[in-house]
Amino acid sequence: MDAPERPTVIATRGVVEHGDQRGRTIGFPTANLPLETDDLLDGVWAGWVDVAGDRHLAAVSIGNRPTFYGTVGYRLLEAHLLDFEGDLYDTEVTVVLWHHLREQIRFDSIDDLVSQLAHDVERCRELATTCPNDLRALRPLHTPVGVATAVAV
Ligand SMILES: Cc1cc2nc3c(=O)[nH]c(=O)nc-3n(C[C@H](O)[C@H](O)[C@H](O)COP(=O)(O)O)c2cc1C
Repeated sequence: MDAPERPTVIATRGVVEHGDQRGRTIGFPTANLPLETDDLLDGVWAGWVDVAGDRHLAAVSIGNRPTFYGTVGYRLLEAHLLDFEGDLYDTEVTVVLWHHLREQIRFDSIDDLVSQLAHDVERCRELATTCPNDLRALRPLHTPVGVATAVAV
């Protein structure tokens, strides 16, 4: 009999670094992680951020933030943790990406970006309510640092 297929998720691990801190001013603070990988994972994701054993639902964006930097921004992973207040700077976190929501795009205005971020957050909440328990409970065993990659869990 064939072995059951092992689920995979995308995960990465790293230490939260200081960003431009624009996110706070628009109501969506983010924990920023440096990334060293190709662009296959660019986009906006529903994810989890694991901090010291606690799992937080997050809207996660990977890309060069074309709204602010055109095509010349450096690639960054930014996670907006839902219902979380606190300072994660210099803290090691694991980010698990489990549902691709959309591509990063260039918005004509900050207001348009903020409206979309609110929509992304609501979509994450909806998806989390229907996320199967076995997927919700998955903890990646071997999560690389600085590289977002598919990992068997
Ligand atoms: C869920 C989410 C989706 C995002 N989508 C986009 C996007 O489509 N286009 C874009 O230019 N930036 C996008 N961003 C990045 C924001 O522009 C960025 O978080 C904001 O400028 C604050 O960055 P800072 O706190 O590092 O300064 C997204 C960020 C998050 C958290």
